[in-house]
Amino acid sequence: MDKMFATRLRYLGTETAFAVSDSAAEFKAKGNKVYPFHLGDMDIRTPLNIIEAAHRAMKDGKTGYVPAVGILPLRETIAEYVGLERGVQFGHENVAIQPGGKPVIGKFIQALMNPGDGVLYPNPGYPIYESQINYHGGRALPYGYISSGEGFKIDREQVESSIDTNTKIFIYNNYQNPIGAESDIEEMEWIADFTLRHNLWVLSDEAYFKIRYSGKSKSIVSFPGLRERTVILYSFSKTYAMTGWRLGAAVGPKKIVEIIAKLNVNQESCTNHFIQYAGIEALRGNQRGAEEIVDTLQERRDVLVEELKKIDGVVISKPNTTFYLFPDITDVYHRIGVKSLEEFRIKTLESTGVSFCTREHFGTPLTGETQKFIRFAYSGISVEEIREGIGRLKDYWAIMKPVVTI
Ligand SMILES: Cc1ncc(COP(=O)(O)O)c(C=O)c1O
Repeated sequence: MDKMFATRLRYLGTETAFAVSDSAAEFKAKGNKVYPFHLGDMDIRTPLNIIEAAHRAMKDGKTGYVPAVGILPLRETIAEYVGLERGVQFGHENVAIQPGGKPVIGKFIQALMNPGDGVLYPNPGYPIYESQINYHGGRALPYGYISSGEGFKIDREQVESSIDTNTKIFIYNNYQNPIGAESDIEEMEWIADFTLRHNLWVLSDEAYFKIRYSGKSKSIVSFPGLRERTVILYSFSKTYAMTGWRLGAAVGPKKIVEIIAKLNVNQESCTNHFIQYAGIEALRGNQRGAEEIVDTLQERRDVLVEELKKIDGVVISKPNTTFYLFPDITDVYHRIGVKSLEEFRIKTLESTGVSFCTREHFGTPLTGETQKFIRFAYSGISVEEIREGIGRLKDYWAIMKPVVTI
């Protein structure tokens, strides 16, 4: 890196998945059809009642600065709804509004982690955890998942063997990006016990809490002793298709929320004023829009799983949450005879137009990993395109079958 820049920037990571968008755009600009499975964004419009609430607030002059911690009625609304859905009691003093869920990651780390402290975090996982831990001088302690064909389980042995006396934080992303993993009660009990035993602070990333096709979401804060040591990353982005609005919150113990609000003052002054009124409408208003978003995503998930299952060498489970699938494509990978997942991705894109991220976009791969995974997001692609794209993939990957000589 150029010497003119601050040395700490060496440790700042990024979302390398954006590079996938760039290569897909480049391929499209040459006149090719692209099937965008790489996007973590949504092609679904925000429900109209929410858009109208923002308009109203703008016209009513809700356009000036507001307190850094957020407007009181939105803090009260989030406290009420987040508490109700998770079976715990929160008040407005437990909520600091944020411009999106993402800022909660860096602010939580800045509030609690000293340089040298260990932070356990999921890998594969949302890449900003690793970036923020490293940037602020922490020790990144990744933990992986074990795939069973039925789904993914946290690798408990790895968690237990990574922790040391200087470990302070456990980052937990139930309803997980990129894997779509979901803990059962027993796994959540184990996490609760583990974090209590080691006196860890918990960041519970619940960005996908409401993107659920069957069953019921549960938060780690509902386990005894966890509400006092957990900050929830709350986000409007996925539930209400509001990714570009930038609205979320940190929900947790008052003393941490106050520090996070102080970081708000220093970083952005406050979250957009009129959008906070749209947030109130999102939670208190008609939920039909949110239900339709889940219905749309569910149809896409079903078609994508059905189509991928037709492909030889693709091992896939069907998550009940998120809008991601994380198939094991180890067999296909070896069949194609590439040297890296990146080469696999590019070769597939150029041969079929199907664009996806790979495991390598979600944290530094762990030593000893042998299985190869890719991630399909179905939040930005229609059912017709899913069928067409996966059909092309099937044909291409089938051609790559080794020739059997008798
Ligand atoms: C696991 C996870 N956490 C947090 C976020 C941040 O979302 P936002 O900042 O839009 O609320 C995302 C976005 O994709 C995510 O996948």
